[in-house]
Amino acid sequence: MAPCDHHHKAKSPTAHLREEHDVILRVLALLEQLGQELEAGREVDHSTMAWVEDFLSTFVDRCHHGKEERYLFPMLERYGIPREGGPLGVMLHEHDQGRALLRAMGLKSEGKKEETVNAIRDYVALLRAHIDKENNVLFRLAEQVLPDSVQKELTQSFELSEETDVGLGVHQRFLSELARLEASCCPSLEHHSMAADLPRVWSHT
Ligand SMILES: [Fe+2]
Ligand SMILES: [Fe+2]
Repeated sequence: MAPCDHHHKAKSPTAHLREEHDVILRVLALLEQLGQELEAGREVDHSTMAWVEDFLSTFVDRCHHGKEERYLFPMLERYGIPREGGPLGVMLHEHDQGRALLRAMGLKSEGKKEETVNAIRDYVALLRAHIDKENNVLFRLAEQVLPDSVQKELTQSFELSEETDVGLGVHQRFLSELARLEASCCPSLEHHSMAADLPRVWSHT
């Protein structure tokens, strides 16, 4: 299927980002479990750690934070939400903190166990709190201040950014690999990976 072959009623930009948050929360649960395994001195599969790092740098940082930083936040600023000393400044600062913690985790390198365990714990807590603030404060504000026409424009920018910056195939690959990892390495997380979750996120139906 061509990347742009959707027949859908476009969802709002905040619905789009909230659905990505749901996927990110699933990966945070997986990462938390990996951190606990490491801390307990158990063997952790290197390829799973490498996959999580790819997900966090590509899906979370480049794609999701990219959509917020390049499109949503500047638009909110134009509609009166302050950046310096306001919620946008806090969100941007937390994105930077996340990037620093991702580097500190060093999920692809071996031999820094304590630093990795601590950075995982801090990253998971930071991102969960960040997502909570966006879902419950910033996005509600956005839904109030952005006119419908601007919201449609943002949704289009998000869809274009998926196609040009990352590629829809990349998103779908991450989702099916996540379901497989949840089932194989953390059976307690498997209930999150129902097949019904997959099309809900990216099929735009
Ligand atoms: Fe964010
Ligand atoms: Fe977000």
